[in-house]
Amino acid sequence: MKTGAARFLGAAAEPGRYPPPGPPEIAVAGRSNVGKSSFLNALLGRRSLARTSRTPGRTRQVNFFAVDERLRLVDLPGYGFAVGPVKERAAWGPLVEDYLAHRDSLRGVLVLVDVRRGVEDDDRELLAYLRHVELPAAVVVTKTDKLARGAATKALAAVRTDCPVIGFSARVGTGRDAVWRLVATWLDRPPRSRHKGAS
Ligand code: GTP
Ligand code: MG
Repeated sequence: MKTGAARFLGAAAEPGRYPPPGPPEIAVAGRSNVGKSSFLNALLGRRSLARTSRTPGRTRQVNFFAVDERLRLVDLPGYGFAVGPVKERAAWGPLVEDYLAHRDSLRGVLVLVDVRRGVEDDDRELLAYLRHVELPAAVVVTKTDKLARGAATKALAAVRTDCPVIGFSARVGTGRDAVWRLVATWLDRPPRSRHKGAS
């Protein structure tokens, strides 16, 4: 899928305060530091559109990027890292849950996991929640360049989930085409029925 120049559209720090709905959205979720922002930058061929951080858990907001008239990409705050002000930590669940359950233009979620950690309990929880709110999901295994090729292949094969699994490296560019192909199939599908399964 060829895309035009992407731009930052806005951020939401509280449930409901999203940019007005427009083109279909694909969200990127995963543990803190798993490589979400790097993934977005690599996907869009931009060096630093989505901020990447050396300090884990710094992206606290839901960040919206306009790609073109067919697509927006959404960077969700990372989970699983107990740092930062208590108020911000407490806000993570309601904000992300509200967005995932109620955003009509959301068409699917890419759940990123680190190749060295695989799918962990909080990732499984998220995947179960996505099934509950009837959103298509896929697991993107990031940082595959951190392992030797054989070890990376083994780690990918060890991922046990019902959804598609794609190996990715933001550093090398591996997996970009596979992700775009998957996203294109999600955009072709009809959206989930309104608010069904939402809680
Ligand atoms: P939070 O927003 O804080 O939750 O983090 P994030 O998930 O957005 O991760 P981010 O993209 O900021 O990356 C975290 C660290 O991992 C950075 O130091 C990146 O340079 C590094 N990183 C991300 N992707 C890759 C990759 O594919 N390969 C390698 N080697 N390093 C990566
Ligand atoms: Mg980030």
